[in-house]
Amino acid sequence: MKALQKLWISGKDVWPLVEGGKGIGVSTGASAGAWAAAGGVGTFSGVNADFYDENGRLIPMIYTGKTRGERHEELIAFGIRGGTAQARIANDISGGAGRIHMNVMWEMGGCERILEGILTQARGLVHGVTCGAGMPYRLAEIAAKYGVYYYPIVSSARAFRALWKRAYHKSKEWLGGVVYEDPWLAGGHNGLSNNENPRSPEAPYPRVVDLRREMNAAGLTDTPVVMAGGVWSVSDFADWIGNPEIGPVAFQFGTRPLLTRESPISDEWKTRLLELNPGDVLLHRFSPTGFYSSAVRNAFLNDLVARSERQVDFRAAAEGEFTAELAFGRRGRSVFLKPEDKPKAEAWIAEGDTEPLKTPDETLVFVTPETSRRILKEQTDCMGCLSACNFSNWSQNEEGTTGRRADPRSFCIQKTLQSIAHTGDIEHELMFAGHNVFRFKSDPFYRNGFVPTVKELVEHLLKGG
Ligand SMILES: Cc1cc2nc3c(=O)[nH]c(=O)nc-3n(C[C@H](O)[C@H](O)[C@H](O)COP(=O)(O)O)c2cc1C
Ligand code: SF4
Repeated sequence: MKALQKLWISGKDVWPLVEGGKGIGVSTGASAGAWAAAGGVGTFSGVNADFYDENGRLIPMIYTGKTRGERHEELIAFGIRGGTAQARIANDISGGAGRIHMNVMWEMGGCERILEGILTQARGLVHGVTCGAGMPYRLAEIAAKYGVYYYPIVSSARAFRALWKRAYHKSKEWLGGVVYEDPWLAGGHNGLSNNENPRSPEAPYPRVVDLRREMNAAGLTDTPVVMAGGVWSVSDFADWIGNPEIGPVAFQFGTRPLLTRESPISDEWKTRLLELNPGDVLLHRFSPTGFYSSAVRNAFLNDLVARSERQVDFRAAAEGEFTAELAFGRRGRSVFLKPEDKPKAEAWIAEGDTEPLKTPDETLVFVTPETSRRILKEQTDCMGCLSACNFSNWSQNEEGTTGRRADPRSFCIQKTLQSIAHTGDIEHELMFAGHNVFRFKSDPFYRNGFVPTVKELVEHLLKGG
């Protein structure tokens, strides 16, 4: 393998090895600072980040607002405080080495205000902003205003072209790089579009060559592509290095840095990573953002899969082929199903999934009374962490709602990601991971449960490991 060369990233020559941003609280000031200290690029998550008191103890985020709108405002204030705290920690740890980036999700609630708030309070501490999940047209303008580099995360040349044509060409000097994230392999949310088949993965090479062509046509020949998603070791990408079809390239890791000493995830989570097998990660579409995402098939995800399987079309009154009346509940309510669906619904009820919940698609899903209560509580407790949420129907528009029915097939991503980040429960919460996660088990680097420091991992990656 050709040796990796340092690359000009966010205003400095650094190793082209990037820790991808991971919310909530999965890539932090501590992990980002360590990546930067090792001479690479660390990315802390600016999504609902934690903050601490003067003794370094976590300050719990307690919401007191009575309405979703009031709690949304609290969330924005917490978000700015948390992101600023993480930027400071990252800088203290890096000691000025490497580069510190911040990641935000464009469709997170109050994104622009949080981004501007952190960049104001942490001026000079953040060198670049990475942003995906949506089409962040305004990212360029905001980054230019604060003099930081910006890195859109895209999954196709087409998405980049749209961003460039509409907005980015106006702030090209601050475009630090373009992250290509493989939507079939990367952990977390991804940019799989309706034209792409989740079951037919496409190889990254030709898609990145397309992206590079698009970038070259825009005069961005020296601007790096950051390859993310499914990158385990640089040696797997040996033919990309020094390859004019690809141009300057850096590599972003999301799943692999989960298992380092500085990674803040629980020991239970770290141990589980070493046990996973091929096929244990599911690309699915249950997220309340509406995006596809990849996570470990644990009880949490299996429950969502099963819930959606216990689903039938219905009508409130007899109509067309909906002729079979199904009575349920103590108050003798009823709905009309297709005759062939009625026995299925009766079987689910007999098994204890007695509560039919309406979805926005004129279907019912059947759940236990306990799950029904939990869904309702989580919807009621919503603090507007997304710009629009399928699960609760919250929207940050003036009406405060998407205008659609809340969707019980989805879940509160705020609650579950906060829980997995702060408790040891990795079975009943959403556990994002990339599809290469099974490689922990067989990679000799991790033999006997070895957990490297970030410095050891970066040195190992530089050797092609
Ligand atoms: C636990 C986890 C959380 C993630 N959260 C985010 C996030 O908040 N924002 C984001 O842009 N990407 C997020 N990602 C994606 C990573 O930044 C990275 O691009 C991706 O994981 C790379 O692919 P890999 O998983 O194959 O290494 C997350 C990934 C993981 C595994
Ligand atoms: S229900 Fe949960 S995921 Fe949806 S906006 Fe509210 S806090 Fe966020």
